[in-house]
Amino acid sequence: MRTTKFLAACLLTLSVFSCKQPDYNSKDAEIEKKVEALLSKMTLEEKIGQMNQISSSGNIEEMSELIKKGEIGSILNEVDPVRVNQLQRAAVEGSRLGIPVLIARDVIHGFKTIFPIPLGQAASFDPEIAREGARVAAVEASSVGVRWTFAPMIDISRDPRWGRIAESCGEDPYLTAVMGAAMVKGFQGDSLNDPTAIAACAKHFVGYGAAEGGRDYNSTFISERNLRNIYLPSFEAAEAAGAATFMTSFNDNDGVPSTGNKFILRDVLRGEWGFDGIVVTDWNSAREMINHGFAADDKDVAEKSVNAGVDMEMVSYTFVKQLPELVKEGKVKESVIDEAVRNILRVKFRLGLFDNPYVDENKPSVFYNKEHLAAAKRAVEESTILLKNENAVLPLGSNVRTIAVVGPMANAPHDQMGTWVFDGDKTHTQTPLAALKAMYGDKVNIIYEPGLTFSRDTNAEGIRKAAAAAARADVILAFLGEEAILSGEAHSLADISLKGAQTQLLEALENTGKPVVSIIMAGRPLTIAHEVELSDAVLYSFHPGTMGGPALADLIFGKAVPSGKTPVTFVQHVGQVPLYYAHHNTGRPARKGVKPLAELPLEAGQTSEGSNSSYMDYSVELLFPFGYGLSYTTFSYGTPKLSATELAKNDVLKVSFELANTGKYEATEIVQLYVQDKVASVTRPVKELKRFTRVTLKPGEKRMVEFELPIADLAFWNIDMKKVVEPGEFALWVAADSESGEPLTFTVK
Ligand code: GLC
Repeated sequence: MRTTKFLAACLLTLSVFSCKQPDYNSKDAEIEKKVEALLSKMTLEEKIGQMNQISSSGNIEEMSELIKKGEIGSILNEVDPVRVNQLQRAAVEGSRLGIPVLIARDVIHGFKTIFPIPLGQAASFDPEIAREGARVAAVEASSVGVRWTFAPMIDISRDPRWGRIAESCGEDPYLTAVMGAAMVKGFQGDSLNDPTAIAACAKHFVGYGAAEGGRDYNSTFISERNLRNIYLPSFEAAEAAGAATFMTSFNDNDGVPSTGNKFILRDVLRGEWGFDGIVVTDWNSAREMINHGFAADDKDVAEKSVNAGVDMEMVSYTFVKQLPELVKEGKVKESVIDEAVRNILRVKFRLGLFDNPYVDENKPSVFYNKEHLAAAKRAVEESTILLKNENAVLPLGSNVRTIAVVGPMANAPHDQMGTWVFDGDKTHTQTPLAALKAMYGDKVNIIYEPGLTFSRDTNAEGIRKAAAAAARADVILAFLGEEAILSGEAHSLADISLKGAQTQLLEALENTGKPVVSIIMAGRPLTIAHEVELSDAVLYSFHPGTMGGPALADLIFGKAVPSGKTPVTFVQHVGQVPLYYAHHNTGRPARKGVKPLAELPLEAGQTSEGSNSSYMDYSVELLFPFGYGLSYTTFSYGTPKLSATELAKNDVLKVSFELANTGKYEATEIVQLYVQDKVASVTRPVKELKRFTRVTLKPGEKRMVEFELPIADLAFWNIDMKKVVEPGEFALWVAADSESGEPLTFTVK
């Protein structure tokens, strides 16, 4: 609770950058002394060995030999506590200086208890959900000896074709910054040397989500100004929150691969932000600079990576093989090596590895304990989005005697967990079918007929059977979506509609004339305009994880009320991508609505159809805007009042308004504050999210809600590449989503 209040206080009153977290990275004089003392004893080979990370080969003897030689600083993908201790003993008792190895793993949204994918957690707009999920992951992962996770992934993602949008917190820099900072706090806990703390890793630094065409690993072409205004803020917030490590991204931006990019690694991360933790490459991303055409060979790879500011190389092994000669030739100074090794030793000391290198192999399991499962269920309840609810078909009432459970995701324990689930165990997944039977089977009859057996299933034979069964029910629950493999790394899609015969299945269900509730589990915002039409109600749950079933069952029957909102724009057609709310207005702003092509006259005059930045066949109308989500109740927003309409740059603007619950369910509304800088030295987004908070009200309850917005938070990198607040007029919205609300204006002098 303490943390909740603390974090919430930060969100409401201060920007995430200025919200002080525990000081993980204070230059603890004690630690700095130990680092220097140890460094002074190390040979060049031992120093370079610390910069080398391998993935567990499973061959303990072989790895132990390398560790004893001082050739390994870190090992990823070893999660057996007995083997972890064997490897650690080789380091602590078998190597000359006894430097412990750092055990790492991708613990992205849970270790054993799997939480919603990060895109789902972002839909909760609740940093406490993110912090709690990361904390549970850290407690479970550290119990087997993992002390470093490669998370949070805080790449701004505005292209739903990109498979890794699933791992992100969506399209908005502020939401991502808040959620990412909370995840850092969750993974690292109150102190890095707590045995349940695991070092966080802000990744992928930087701009990876802007891969051209949404194709993973593709090049990006982000200007410095856009880097600073859009892609860097979430990483700056993670650094301010104390992230112990950063990971370089695969993409080349403006021709420079991040793993060899001195500007971002040394000038920005170290020079401007003062980061003193570890920079690790992504998997083989150092050697991939040869594919990029940025490095000629392994020697060039090692020289360019280390001189650009990389401390540790993941699996490509060029440092161990090439750096000794590069130092001898003076192409890499030993002082540069020393700095990298200081960063590595500093994090190991901060983690307490020298004092407590071993994991307790006999401690009782903490996996799936009831607190963890309860936290995971809360995360699903808060992150599920109600996109449609015609005639209030949800929540199901006592008049519903029989329900039909249909669709390939109703009982898909593996796929429900989503991508990046190395250690999750599908036998612990509680599916919607199982949960509905266990929790509501005494209240309603449940008919189960999947219709299709997996999301890509094109065998339509089962559809008739499912429709026939569904016709016997009062309400049909259609669980649709994506198998886990269809999102995540290297899983980009050119067509982001529902796969297989799912749409045909839904059409058959709609044809029964019975109310259809579609519950969609996916790793991205799918193009589901037609399916939304076919459904009376739609719940969207980005791969919800272990507790997806119980949470969705309670949401469907009203024991929980949906509050999630879209962390990313839902487009109508993939051809509209990229389309996001914080776009620029352009000289010819797109207009809503579009004339059907069939109505175009023949030999129409060149300029007869006007000219604006829409498509001729699709307007820029979205399916669902960023920040959108319904509730079982309704909320009304009073007209916001501003504490002033003329402010100086160091003032704080207070925005207050009354929120009322005008419906009949206690529910939570995510209220959002957007601002537009109307005229500036460079064109600015039509609006940007600057604050949000969750407000829970009983039916009929009204409450004054207040945001505090330091004018300093309106600063942006301007034409002179300076981060400033420029004077002028601003528009401000307090709204339920990025498309609603009426603007108020204020001026900054
Ligand atoms: C992968 C991913 C990265 C992950 C790393 C280690 O290629 O890009 O996010 O942490 O390798 O598994």
